[in-house]
Amino acid sequence: MTDRSLLILPGDGIGPEVMAEVRKVIDWFGSAQGITFDVSEDLVGGAAYDAHGVPLTDATMAKAQEVDAVLLGAVGGPAYDDLDFSVKPERGLLRLRKEMDLYANLRPAQCFDALADFSSLKREVVSGLDIMILRELTSGVYFGEPRGIHTEGNERVGINTQRYTEGEIARAARSAFELARRRNNKVCSMEKANVMESGILWRDVVNEIHAAEYGDVELSHMYADNGAMQLVRAPKQFDVILTDNLFGDILSDCAAMLTGSLGMLPSASLGAPMANGRPKAMYEPVHGSAPDITGQGKANPIACILSFAMALRYSFDLGDEATRLERAVEGVLADGARTADLMGPEGGTPISTSEMGDAIVAKLAS
Ligand code: NAD
Ligand code: IPM
Ligand code: MN
Repeated sequence: MTDRSLLILPGDGIGPEVMAEVRKVIDWFGSAQGITFDVSEDLVGGAAYDAHGVPLTDATMAKAQEVDAVLLGAVGGPAYDDLDFSVKPERGLLRLRKEMDLYANLRPAQCFDALADFSSLKREVVSGLDIMILRELTSGVYFGEPRGIHTEGNERVGINTQRYTEGEIARAARSAFELARRRNNKVCSMEKANVMESGILWRDVVNEIHAAEYGDVELSHMYADNGAMQLVRAPKQFDVILTDNLFGDILSDCAAMLTGSLGMLPSASLGAPMANGRPKAMYEPVHGSAPDITGQGKANPIACILSFAMALRYSFDLGDEATRLERAVEGVLADGARTADLMGPEGGTPISTSEMGDAIVAKLAS
């Protein structure tokens, strides 16, 4: 037993494929560095539905609440698209986020130099890029009431509600300002205060928290549609982007392509500190289950491996080890290792998911 507990939920599609590569990294830290983890594994998403009829059992939920960190692969897939909404794979993931109260979702987008020509944007626009999107993760239109599909008269009406309390905005804002202080000290908050009352409140609260507690951090505001345009036009103007649940989902997929591939983007979802001082935490790649490439050895495991690096840093106080792992990823990319999603202008022969994992472990050891 160690005092580092980790619950692994590989999930669906390429989730188990990329998680197998993270396992190699975890094993390496144990055998080569004596840094061991108490790892358990369980089901989530479609895999849990197949076994138990629900996308997350109460027992798995309880386990997630107890461990230091959860590492999740991906959920969902075409086999589950027609399931009742309440048991869709994605509901399992949303339950984890909500019940663990993981309100601060950190989605860093970094462009590794070796991939600067792989982005759909020009090298000079993305090279050296290092931004952090702070996505509020437990509220907004994902969870607001009323919601549902009703019949009104002779037609159906679909309803979701964008709802934010002051407290929810304030705690996300504090996370963004704290992150900025450890980076380049700039926060750009994105909402649509021009058309949404929740956006007006969002802007007000961010300004209030800034004035009262973070006057040293440079703060700006942007409408989220302009923000999307600016992310593509000149992404290096940003340091930390603070935004809500839905805008953050969309803007982070957009930011993924600045780095070369969605298969590169990790994330950390953090909540309040637990009794042992560590934050409630779940780590997962930004990408989904990628049904189009499942089972073909084509998945890029880097997003999931970098998510584990974030776990080392944010849950286990192993910042040096996290940096070592990030350098190993950078190193294999500099050596030319490429999974199929990273076939850039020069083409070449891709390596498999498993070969990429092996290369990263070999680099760690070198
Ligand atoms: P997706 O992220 O699964 O795939 C989008 C595209 O990116 C696909 O072409 C895919 O092949 C590619 N891609 C994604 N990850 C990759 C990787 N690691 N390596 C190489 N290529 C990669 O998004 P989608 O197709 O819109 O959704 C598929 C399913 O995944 C849906 O059921 C969706 O709800 C679910 N989803 C889950 C999560 C999650 O678990 N966190 C996130 C997003 C989508
Ligand atoms: C993500 C995903 C999820 C989201 C889905 C699968 C619930 O797209 O993590 O980015 O919308 O938050
Ligand atoms: Mn998404």
